[in-house]
Amino acid sequence: MMSLKLLSFNFVSLVFCLSIFFTFSCQRKKTAEHQEQKIVQEQKIVQEQKVVRDDSEQKQDIYQRQTETSNKGVGPIQEVKVEPIDLALASRGKEIFDMKCSACHKLEERYVGPPLKGVTKRRTYEWIMNMILNPSEMLQKDQVAKELFEQYLISMPYQNVSQEEARAILEYLRSADEK
Ligand code: HEC
Repeated sequence: MMSLKLLSFNFVSLVFCLSIFFTFSCQRKKTAEHQEQKIVQEQKIVQEQKVVRDDSEQKQDIYQRQTETSNKGVGPIQEVKVEPIDLALASRGKEIFDMKCSACHKLEERYVGPPLKGVTKRRTYEWIMNMILNPSEMLQKDQVAKELFEQYLISMPYQNVSQEEARAILEYLRSADEK
C-alpha cells in the first residue's frame, strides 16, 4: 500500500517535472524564433535604407551632370558657339539686361530671381538662352528650372527678347563671370 502511494507520488512529480521542462524548452524556442525574426527585420531595414541612399546619390549625380555639362534645357537653342568675349556685344547685352531683367535680377545678390553672377559656370549657354527665350516651358519641363521655381515661387516671364538679344545678354553674363 505504502509503495503504491510512493509510486503514484513519484509518477506525479515526474509528470510535473516533464511539464515544466516542456514549457521551458517551448519558451526558449519561441524567444529564439522571435530573435531571428527581429534580426531579419533589422537586416531588411538596413537594406532599405541603403537603397534609399543609393537612389539619392544617383539623383545628385544626374543633377550635377545635367547642370554642369550637358543639360541644354528646352527651347529653340540647340547649340551656342563659344568664342573669346565680344565686348561690344556684351555692352549691348548689358543695356538690354538693365531694361528687361534688372527689375528682378541682380548680379551679386538674390532679388526677385536668383543672382546671376556665376550662372555661366553653373549652367550651359544653351540652357541660359532657353531660359530667357522659353521660360514657361522650361519651368514645366526642365528639372533644374522646376527646382528654382520651388525656391523662388515666381515664374520668370518671357520678356519679349529676340534670339540676338538673348545672345547679347549671354555675352554680358559671360563677361561678368570673367571678372
Ligand atoms: C518678374 C521677374 C523676372 C524677370 C523680369 C526676369 N527674371 Fe529671370 N528669373 C526670375 C525667377 C523668379 C527665376 C527663378 C526661376 C523661376 O522661379 O521662374 C529666374 C531665373 C532666371 C535664370 C536662371 C538662374 C539660375 O540660377 O540658373 C536666368 C539665367 C534668368 N532668370 C535670366 C533672366 C534674364 C536674362 C532676364 C531678362 C531678359 C530675366 N531673367 C527676367 C525672375 C525674373
